[in-house]
Amino acid sequence: MRAERELAIAIVGATGAVGSEVLRTLEERQFPVGEVRLFASARSAGEFLEWRSGEARVEDLESAAFADVDVAFFCAGGAVSAEYAPRAVDAGAVVIDKSSHFRMHPDVPLVVPEVNSCDLAERHLGIVASPNCTTIPIVVALKPIVDAVGIERVVASSYQAVSGGGKRGIEALSRETVDLLNMRAPGGDEREAVFPRRIAFNCIPQVDAFLEDGSTREEAKVIAETRRVLHLESLPIAVTCVHVPTFYGHAVALTVELAQPLDAADARQLLREAPGVILCDLEGDMQYPTAADVGGTDAVYVGRVRNDPSHPHGLQLWVAADNVRKGAALNAVQIAEILAREI
Ligand SMILES: NC(=O)c1ccc[n+]([C@@H]2O[C@H](COP(=O)([O-])OP(=O)(O)OC[C@H]3O[C@@H](n4cnc5c(N)ncnc54)[C@H](OP(=O)(O)O)[C@@H]3O)[C@@H](O)[C@H]2O)c1
Repeated sequence: MRAERELAIAIVGATGAVGSEVLRTLEERQFPVGEVRLFASARSAGEFLEWRSGEARVEDLESAAFADVDVAFFCAGGAVSAEYAPRAVDAGAVVIDKSSHFRMHPDVPLVVPEVNSCDLAERHLGIVASPNCTTIPIVVALKPIVDAVGIERVVASSYQAVSGGGKRGIEALSRETVDLLNMRAPGGDEREAVFPRRIAFNCIPQVDAFLEDGSTREEAKVIAETRRVLHLESLPIAVTCVHVPTFYGHAVALTVELAQPLDAADARQLLREAPGVILCDLEGDMQYPTAADVGGTDAVYVGRVRNDPSHPHGLQLWVAADNVRKGAALNAVQIAEILAREI
């Protein structure tokens, strides 16, 4: 893409799983970056990250000034966004926030460009939110089906990679796997545990904290965000989110009750033509994407498209995408590409 001029970019959380991917994605997609400012905590201030043919230095966020920054990507968690994103906006930047902090704020658009880029045209506070990494593949896959026949209910079960828990999640799976393969009890400080149980050679049906009704915060986010992005505020959705011992790539099994019958072959055709989707399900050859296939790629992959034998208007799909790329960094950069046309 080409803006009128090169833009000054800030990445808050630049040393993390998402922030470092934002930096790579800006370069890969030739985003018109003039100056780049990288921020993290005092722990990593002074480090250097690869940028173009050289390096860029990481600064301590605490002493950050956002003067002259055009676009600030926030990838450092909700508490950091709550405190620093308004400061960046006051200094004149547009913020693209990867945390959940502003996602349900009525004056903050929650955007997946292939699905609801129209929401960027609404009045906003200078902050645009990017959804949760499980929400994004769900809405990209559902959008063409919603438009064609409408949907009445969704049941989703996720299989989420450890990188969804950031760089500490990746380290936890690596460390536990090495320990177990060496016949040692998994080490690490329990007080700093990323996952509520051992993740190596295990599956954990808990992502984030429990709520009073027995669901988890992750499940509640996926429900609320899916409704908001699809503009289906009262859509019935049931979600179970599960951590699995893969490094990159979230997968979701979707069972969808449609408003009208839709043959699986017609659903495949809709998905084949949908923006951002790669259909792996060539009729008859039973192809499907796995986490290992989608790591490091940009699309939302869909396979196992079939009619649900338990419901007259039912459709089942298997959806997978790289949670750090389309689930986070790429989605944020795509939002910036749209906004940059107006800066
Ligand atoms: N990982 C995913 O798949 C994914 C997907 C969608 C959304 N998100 C969201 O994106 C955000 C970042 O996630 P992540 O996975 O990249 O986490 P991460 O790997 O743990 O990285 C966190 C980043 O934030 C910085 N940071 C933490 N506390 C800070 C503070 N007080 N002041 C300044 N910088 C601070 C860290 O800096 P240091 O290096 O100095 O510690 C690091 O750069 C989170 O809000 C997360 O929910 C993540």
